[in-house]
Amino acid sequence: MQTIEAIEQRRAVKTYDPGHKMTEAEIEQLLSAAILSPSAFNRLTAKAPVVFTNGTSGGLKRPNMGQTFTFIVLDFIHNHVKHRSDLWCVDITSKTGFCRMSNNIQNWRFVVVTDQAQKDKLKEAAWNQAQVSDASIVIVVCADLKAWDKEPARYWKNAAKETQEILVPMITQFYQGKDQLQRDEAMRSTGIVAQTIMLRAKDMGYDSCPMIGFDPVKVAEIINLPEDHVIGMLLPVGKSIKPAHPRGGQLGLADIVSRGHLLINFISKKSPVIKPGFSLI
Ligand SMILES: Cc1cc2nc3c(=O)[nH]c(=O)nc-3n(C[C@H](O)[C@H](O)[C@H](O)COP(=O)(O)O)c2cc1C
Repeated sequence: MQTIEAIEQRRAVKTYDPGHKMTEAEIEQLLSAAILSPSAFNRLTAKAPVVFTNGTSGGLKRPNMGQTFTFIVLDFIHNHVKHRSDLWCVDITSKTGFCRMSNNIQNWRFVVVTDQAQKDKLKEAAWNQAQVSDASIVIVVCADLKAWDKEPARYWKNAAKETQEILVPMITQFYQGKDQLQRDEAMRSTGIVAQTIMLRAKDMGYDSCPMIGFDPVKVAEIINLPEDHVIGMLLPVGKSIKPAHPRGGQLGLADIVSRGHLLINFISKKSPVIKPGFSLI
């Protein structure tokens, strides 16, 4: 199936064949696609040679403007790396010719529920929504808020040693003591990975339904969720026996897209005040 077909045909399906079982191989196939999702903050990639040097003033020198350099890398450094002269006084060019940055912390965790009794309990915790007990599986899409602190070297085990030495300490520095950021990261990752699963499910002939309509405390109890984890959503996957309702109505691009800045005429009177300078990027 083409990606665009999966995007167009994926719908939040509510009615499933309760008798249909997914095979273990299919479940593995589905989740094997999930782990290819991007994780953590922006994938920052500088594809051109970049030289960072600690200039005589002790500050970070900008690379030669003639180089095709992704300036988001510089933005990242200026915004997030506190001890940048310690971390970034490296000549990456001489080693690799390019620098690829991302945390890659893969903070998502999946609890796959296939047992009918457990699905029934989840259904009860999800305001009795039928799809939870009727779908072949329910994936509780969770995230580990402290993934960044749990052997972060494993997220870069295949990278060159020089790259590991730069990236691994950066992970701790980026997240330590920032509870809101840790939670934001969890929700970003679970949202992205859920979409990957939903599209892959569609490609495999299955349907799905992202769900936030549940009691998180009860669901946490049912799956024994550790304290340092959160639930992003429930994701039933199964064989549809009834199509989704017609689409509720999509906003037009003119209502949601603007260039450079968020235009004020998109915002209803009830919307919170947007601070000056706020931008979509
Ligand atoms: C985060 C999230 C939570 C949702 N929670 C529920 C839910 O609890 N129950 C439900 O029936 N649908 C739920 N939905 C499905 C939405 O109603 C549905 O995605 C939306 O109406 C658009 O329809 P479509 O996905 O078929 O295009 C949820 C969707 C999202 C993205």
